[in-house]
Amino acid sequence: MAVIRSVIRGVGAYLPKRILTNAELAKTVDTTDEWIVERTGIRARHIAADGEYTSDLGAHAARQALVRAGIDPVEIDLVICATATPDRTFPATAVRIQNMLGVTKGAAFDVQAVCSGFVYAMATADAFLRTGQFKRAIVIGAETFSRILDWEDRTTCVLFGDGAGAVVLEAQPQTGGRNDRGILSTTIRSDGRYEDLLYVDGGPSTTKTVGHLRMNGREVFRHAVQKISGVIEETLVTTGYAANEIDLFVPHQANKRILDGIAKKLGIPENRIVVTLAEHGNTSAASIPLALNHAFERHLLGEGKLVLMESMGGGFTWGAVLARW
Ligand code: ACO
Repeated sequence: MAVIRSVIRGVGAYLPKRILTNAELAKTVDTTDEWIVERTGIRARHIAADGEYTSDLGAHAARQALVRAGIDPVEIDLVICATATPDRTFPATAVRIQNMLGVTKGAAFDVQAVCSGFVYAMATADAFLRTGQFKRAIVIGAETFSRILDWEDRTTCVLFGDGAGAVVLEAQPQTGGRNDRGILSTTIRSDGRYEDLLYVDGGPSTTKTVGHLRMNGREVFRHAVQKISGVIEETLVTTGYAANEIDLFVPHQANKRILDGIAKKLGIPENRIVVTLAEHGNTSAASIPLALNHAFERHLLGEGKLVLMESMGGGFTWGAVLARW
């Protein structure tokens, strides 16, 4: 039976020029390169320049994705930006990016699910494209977490960085069979009981300030392995694929030990997991599209490859997207 699917036409990414290494961080907070590498796998992160905003990062990534897709910005009718670090409280960063790209039709809005933002945004775009409301979407994950970190808190400031990634999706008819291209399944979940384990201690309605990220790392770690493994298992059961049929696992890049824990639990071979966090740390909503871009540039994402993306973030929120490239 013919169906409409959201086919991934292009991917792009952008990292700010300034690189902050572990060794450099160790000069300002009580930490070491060895501790950070051993506990997280992170070696460096990128930091946005003064005057460089989330929208700038997102627009760079979006432009690259559009060029690679061979799609003119005027053909885009949906712009979704996943971010927890918007330029302003409003308007949405997506609307600013829409304007920067020269898109004036359709709709643009932000999605806020912290580190799960990209998965939530993909699920949202997919729902709109499959029901025929829009034809071509650009889904962006863009963050400037450096602006919400407490740079004196060694338990959090070593983990995050700035960056952006984007994909172009196009509604295309497919056969409804096993070889269909495009997004095959999306699963998004949340549970607000865990808010106090990972949050920002400010906001327009509470403190009238932006606030700083606060986290109980050990508890987040425990939930991450459990919840991400659960949503991957759910995805495999609903779609009828086995873990060993997935060509590429493109996880949210939070911590190498979380990725190892999930891989071990589900029996995923290490050589099928894209790991980029050494280079840019946890970039929240940007981390999956940055990892997709990394895989694309290394020719790991040829047409027909089965790709599983997953994430967990503040809220908690978590989810997974299965797609055939
Ligand atoms: N450098 C040196 N020592 C440190 C640092 C640091 N940067 N940070 C903490 N420590 C110390 C602690 O103070 C503690 O010292 P103590 O034993 O004297 O009290 C010791 O190291 C151990 O601290 P733990 O918090 O138990 O260390 P743990 O092994 O759990 O690692 C970490 C901490 C890396 C944060 C880990 O818990 C983690 O990765 N959690 C997941 C958090 C995460 O990835 N969040 C991202 C958002 S959610 C998501 O994206 C999935």
